Amino acid sequence: MIHSEILHWLREENEDPLTRLWKRADDCRCAHVGDEVHLRGLIEISNHCVRTCQYCGINRTHAALQRYRMTADEILSCAHQAVKFGYGTVVMQAGEDPGIDADWLADVIRRIKAGTSLAVTLSLGERDDEELALWRAAGADRYLLRFETSNLSLYNRIHPPLSGKTCGTAAPGCANAEHPRFAILRRLRKLGYEIGSGVMIGIPGQTYEDLASDIEAFASLDLEMIGVGPYLPHPQTPLGKASSETIPPQSAIAGRQCPNTELMTYKVIALARLTCPDANIPSTTALATINKATGRELGLMRGANVVMPNLTPVQYRAMYEIYPAKACIQESAADCHGCLKGRIAGIGRSIGIGRGDSPARKRHATPASRG
Ligand code: 5AD
Ligand code: FES
Repeated sequence: MIHSEILHWLREENEDPLTRLWKRADDCRCAHVGDEVHLRGLIEISNHCVRTCQYCGINRTHAALQRYRMTADEILSCAHQAVKFGYGTVVMQAGEDPGIDADWLADVIRRIKAGTSLAVTLSLGERDDEELALWRAAGADRYLLRFETSNLSLYNRIHPPLSGKTCGTAAPGCANAEHPRFAILRRLRKLGYEIGSGVMIGIPGQTYEDLASDIEAFASLDLEMIGVGPYLPHPQTPLGKASSETIPPQSAIAGRQCPNTELMTYKVIALARLTCPDANIPSTTALATINKATGRELGLMRGANVVMPNLTPVQYRAMYEIYPAKACIQESAADCHGCLKGRIAGIGRSIGIGRGDSPARKRHATPASRG
């Protein structure tokens, strides 16, 4: 799909054509990845973070937030719960936390792989190549790192670089600058990881054109996993406080600001499916947060084929509030499991058996990633 066609769909507001878009995306999902919905058990292993992302509720400037880091035994016990519930994958997610020692995590990964047949996905922010290689060698299968927006000046504005660390790009504003996360994603693929990325929808300053370019980037990166959700302002963050330095005057992008709505999220899910037919695409918690009643189901009916039930112990959930009123903050792992099973059955879909690797993985298999 070319840029202008994507842009046309992002601006479409009429019900009839949108109904056709949902149908096309759903047919494409069915033809390429089938009716199974894969369950990825999410373990939020630490809410410590050294970054100052302007949108994120666990960024290091949120001083009032109580911080936690799970123990290896707590993580292992979540992994065993995943097996008990029949999940094929666990996703270990955290803020960018150097307190997660590379050798310690490699050991946790090895223990999960030795004791279960789970696929292991990591979502731990920007880590050094040696650490990423170590975790891959320990058995990690997949890595998620959203690029958040392909508009580099917007990205740089909402995602200040770590002081003392260069991001490996040309100076912001330079026409030849590359998005730092594209480079990391390519390195992850070289290491043999299945790679996942995605964006937030409706960041202040993000235009329809930007979002169309984001969707094109999903295709050019040939992602195996694509996660998208609406931007949800967090009142304890600089962007959520909406200061004039962080948000461009509306006149600068008049009429072009992309809204952070539920409808826009479905459009991006559907277009991601059509541009990357065999990717694994979750119906995300952020979507469930803005429509608790039917958001997950509608995501699954408009292109998504994955959900991520939360396995994080209940005592830590509220501390992982990257945006406010996050869904499933009080529910136990068993609650989320039961809830999602019911929702999947309710729309006539089945639960995926096994790891649920993306068919796209075969295109990228290297000797390091086989076996
Ligand atoms: N609103 C929506 N999504 C957010 N994320 C972080 N903060 C917010 C927010 N305020 C998303 C980012 C990140 C993922 C883990 O959560 O896209 O990559
Ligand atoms: Fe957690 Fe529904 S998925 S309660």
